[in-house]
Amino acid sequence: MTRATAVAHPNIALVKYWGKADQRLNLPATGSLSLTLDIFPTTTTVELTNDPMDRVMLDGVELSGDESARVRSVLDLVRERAGTGTHALVTSTNTVPTAAGLASSAAAFAALAKASSAAYGLSLSDAELSRLARRGSGSACRSIFGGLVRWNKGTSDETSVAERLEWQGEPLAMVVSVISSARKKIGSRAGMNHTVTTSPYFEGWVSSNNALVERASSAVERADFTSLGEIAEMSALRMHASMLGAEPPLRYLTSRSFAIFDAVQELREDGLEAYASADAGPNVKILCRSREASLVAHALRERIEDVKMHVSNSGPGAYLLDEGERPSAA
Ligand code: PMV
Repeated sequence: MTRATAVAHPNIALVKYWGKADQRLNLPATGSLSLTLDIFPTTTTVELTNDPMDRVMLDGVELSGDESARVRSVLDLVRERAGTGTHALVTSTNTVPTAAGLASSAAAFAALAKASSAAYGLSLSDAELSRLARRGSGSACRSIFGGLVRWNKGTSDETSVAERLEWQGEPLAMVVSVISSARKKIGSRAGMNHTVTTSPYFEGWVSSNNALVERASSAVERADFTSLGEIAEMSALRMHASMLGAEPPLRYLTSRSFAIFDAVQELREDGLEAYASADAGPNVKILCRSREASLVAHALRERIEDVKMHVSNSGPGAYLLDEGERPSAA
């Protein structure tokens, strides 16, 4: 095959990844655990060309600089394995606002790993794809898999890999609030490096969060939604605490974000179980049970003005599309 198209969805970490142990290999300082969404897919086509260089198009615009270099670094790994120097045209379409802390890079690099390996004729296992996607963006290693996913931090390229976890509980959902879809000022890569090098809280974050990965995994095994939700909210707030301790402080959450955290707490007090989380941006993601997701979204719309709420169920792992086929989830 000289051309392949893949679809991947964003994932939202319930136990967060923040901080690298190895910059080149993208090994994380802490394990993490996420839910893959069924909204905001990225579709990526990789086509081998006779051009003297790779070209990368995102939503109709040609990328240059750092962004295209990250894509090319993944292509280089694929070419090395395939034993070829042939360049490629990469065409990608995002349906999520790019770089607003809504995990667009996770879906993008998972789709790139899947499409590029197929285009270059490699037949990789999901674990190998996960490792490849990780090199483009850490969190992308989780989007290779659907549902609940654990990224084992590992100590090497081989051992730092995600795996799917079985969930026997009631179906899960995520309500994604969009306060702002503006591009974030500080990307996650720069933000985490800044936290690693300047925050006195970073060590506490790492050790406590690794413990939360174990507690969350055991909550998943027991299908214990309440513990999973409580751990998720705690991990998100601890991650933001580590950033707030940086010099100068790094603050992605706004008063609007906190208003949603407050509203989610009110919902719980009213007996509607929901838990808030946020990443490298102001937008808050709310974990809840699938059957209560529209209720949660409705209750939040009533409490918070002018915030878009998107409801997502648990989504699929990255998959290839046949020529001319359209993504199954929109
Ligand atoms: O993989 P990156 O560089 O997009 O970093 C993701 C970091 C967070 O989204 C804030 C947390 C996470 O685990 O996804």
